[in-house]
Amino acid sequence: MNTKINLSIFILVGSLFFVACGGDAEKSASGAGSEAKTESKESGALDADLQAGKESFEMTCASCHGEKGAGDGAAASALNPKPRNFKAPANEWKNGPSLAGVTKTLNEGIKGGSMVAYKHLGDETIAQIAKYVVHLHEN
Ligand code: HEC
Repeated sequence: MNTKINLSIFILVGSLFFVACGGDAEKSASGAGSEAKTESKESGALDADLQAGKESFEMTCASCHGEKGAGDGAAASALNPKPRNFKAPANEWKNGPSLAGVTKTLNEGIKGGSMVAYKHLGDETIAQIAKYVVHLHEN
């Protein structure tokens, strides 16, 4: 193939691309934003809060609740009552698997067992962990 033809094909393709994208640049920019959001949700990627919550959870809670919140941490077998399995249906929870319920649990603890209050972690960390617990319940 001679270079001249090669070059004109390149220019032709290039300008088509430019026209196609330039036409509705604004639309595709906002579209791309919401696509990226759905995509990260579907692929299970965690947003910043969830990621922070996951790290705190693994450090502070997983010894009893297990890495995935199944209630099977290393200490679980010695405990009575057992740590909550976060996959358990809502009616088996005392404060419930909602953000509000988990936040209450973390601030106040649950009387009569080894689930103590974690208020000292502070509101921000508690909010992140609560979000992660709800995520484990739902996924
Ligand atoms: C020493 C073991 C232990 C640790 C550490 C622990 N938990 Fe628990 N957790 C329990 C036990 C036991 C229960 C069940 C209490 C009951 O049913 O009375 C429980 C229950 C729960 C529940 C269920 C509340 C409900 O509505 O029924 C949540 C949510 C929870 N824990 C979250 C956490 C989080 C988040 C952390 C870390 C910040 C944590 N736990 C750390 C032992 C633990």
